[in-house]
Amino acid sequence: MKVLLTGGAGYIGSHTIVEMHEAGHEVVVVDNFSNSSPKSVARVEKIIGKKVPLYEADVADEAAMDRIFAEHKIDAVVHFAGYKAVGESVSKPVEYYENNIGSTLTLLKAMKKAGCKKLIFSSSATVYGAPEKCPITEDSPTGNCSNPYGWTKYMIEVILKDYCVADPDMQVVLLRYFNPVGAHKSGTIGEMPNGIPNNLMPFITQVAVGKRKELAVFGNDYPTHDGTGVRDFIHVVDLARGHVAALNFDKKGAEVFNLGTGTGYSVLDMVKAFSEVNGVPVPYRIAERRPGDIATCYADPAKSLAVLGWKATHGLEDMVRDSWRWQSQNPNGYED
Ligand code: NAD
Ligand code: WQD
Repeated sequence: MKVLLTGGAGYIGSHTIVEMHEAGHEVVVVDNFSNSSPKSVARVEKIIGKKVPLYEADVADEAAMDRIFAEHKIDAVVHFAGYKAVGESVSKPVEYYENNIGSTLTLLKAMKKAGCKKLIFSSSATVYGAPEKCPITEDSPTGNCSNPYGWTKYMIEVILKDYCVADPDMQVVLLRYFNPVGAHKSGTIGEMPNGIPNNLMPFITQVAVGKRKELAVFGNDYPTHDGTGVRDFIHVVDLARGHVAALNFDKKGAEVFNLGTGTGYSVLDMVKAFSEVNGVPVPYRIAERRPGDIATCYADPAKSLAVLGWKATHGLEDMVRDSWRWQSQNPNGYED
């Protein structure tokens, strides 16, 4: 298939180009580089030994999107493009609703004009809010999001379901990612957060490489095995392969899948595994709980296995080793 990746220069998108290529698909990328650099795509081209058509454009630019669909016969779209920083979304709600929802609406208009009927959307476990039970199945209640970012994911899911009702030929896959970490084994592509990282793994790697003094562990009084928050960390290469599996899912309407491993690790489990596997100390201190955080969150990935034939194959060691390889080889990300 020929697949358009919006936001394909980003962390998950760049890894997905590689896995799509390995599976025999052709990829076209559109990105406005608001949170990435064209250098990621240049590095992907080295990994796969092939040029990737790359458009610098905003997905909300209808004329630019029409041009891409006119220049390529796109069979499917994977829609990664969007802002993703939870804390920033609280202080910039208008920008988040405008960019995440606005770009999705423009994309749908462009797809309609081009007759493109397949869309895979980057949703998030954040739509489950504070889950009533773990592991979380796809039919668990959604909504009750604790920040505008989460609401954009929730609202886009609603919009895409409505779109499928209006066009019964449409195929939409909503992938709810858990906590992506890790990097391609080459160590040449990975996550490049702007400024102070919000997420745990990039913070750990920046402490390990000496860019930050210590990790603040947000709370050690949660009802978990060691008191720190438990999450379903998933290797980004497994996540990328989930998109390849979703491409092969041939069913009309909107369908939801969790992309997680089904195993929860705590913050201190991650710190310990990172230090032991890589032989690098990660100084930390216990700090206050972070507002909006939940104690425990991990997926039930059974539906993804049963229906898509997908499951995560990378374990904790792979995740911490590959995160460190990327960070240690590229202390300044794509600037190196
Ligand atoms: P990322 O920021 O690395 O990638 C997103 C890409 O989209 C960036 O390259 C950015 O420049 C681009 N972009 C943003 N707005 C755009 C626009 N209007 N037009 C064109 N390009 C635009 O983030 P990521 O971690 O790769 O996440 C990809 C998707 O997955 C996002 O939608 C994110 O919300 C979702 N997601 C991420 C996580 C996570 O923890 N990383 C978890 C769940 C869901
Ligand atoms: C994980 C654990 C923190 C940083 C977020 C979004 C979610 C999704 C993934 C996009 C928690 C603890 C963290 C630090 C810490 N993104 N922590 N010190 O909050 O599960 O999910 O990213 O969709 O929507 O909310 O991930 O990596 O921020 O935190 O102790 O410096 O690590 O408290 O327990 P989270 P995270």
